[in-house]
Amino acid sequence: MRAAALALGVGAAALTALTLPVHAAPDGAAIYGRCAACHTKTGAGVPGVFPPLGEDFRVMGSSEAGRRYLTLVVTRGVSGPIKVGGKPYAGVMPAQATLDDASVAAVLNHVGTEIAKTGPAFKPFAEAEVAGIRAGGAALSAQDVGKLHAAAGGQ
Ligand code: HEC
Repeated sequence: MRAAALALGVGAAALTALTLPVHAAPDGAAIYGRCAACHTKTGAGVPGVFPPLGEDFRVMGSSEAGRRYLTLVVTRGVSGPIKVGGKPYAGVMPAQATLDDASVAAVLNHVGTEIAKTGPAFKPFAEAEVAGIRAGGAALSAQDVGKLHAAAGGQ
């Protein structure tokens, strides 16, 4: 009897664990699929058209101004002239405005760890960090974001 009650208790606990709502973290690799359409699957980009997501990304990810720039590139878009990896770019990246804060953090973290593999150590973005930067930059145009590039540690 005691064993049965115990088994029942364990069963109920397991069921509760299974049925509790789980706030699944967004899948940065899956979200990167939309970035890959332009920046390519490996992040190598297309010289002069779509910049690489490589060492420059990690350099910018290591300063406050750079982290603000990287976040705003995704939430507001970016339009140069900018130089990445020593090459000039003067196109337009459309804002990825449908991504929520957690998704922006997830895709930046995917790029920082799986796509950009050289450069300084990568410090992950948190959802709250993205939320603050997005709110602060809500009035910026893609051109405005482009002007932040140099001070963000871009070349
Ligand atoms: C429709 C094409 C397109 C898509 C989709 C796109 N980008 Fe871009 N991205 C660009 C272009 C073009 C530029 C450079 C803008 C310029 O030429 O001035 C750029 C610039 C950037 C930069 C700035 C690089 C630097 O060193 O200054 C980052 C970071 C970036 N994109 C990340 C992303 C991420 C992350 C995604 C997916 C969430 C994404 N992009 C989706 C086209 C795109």
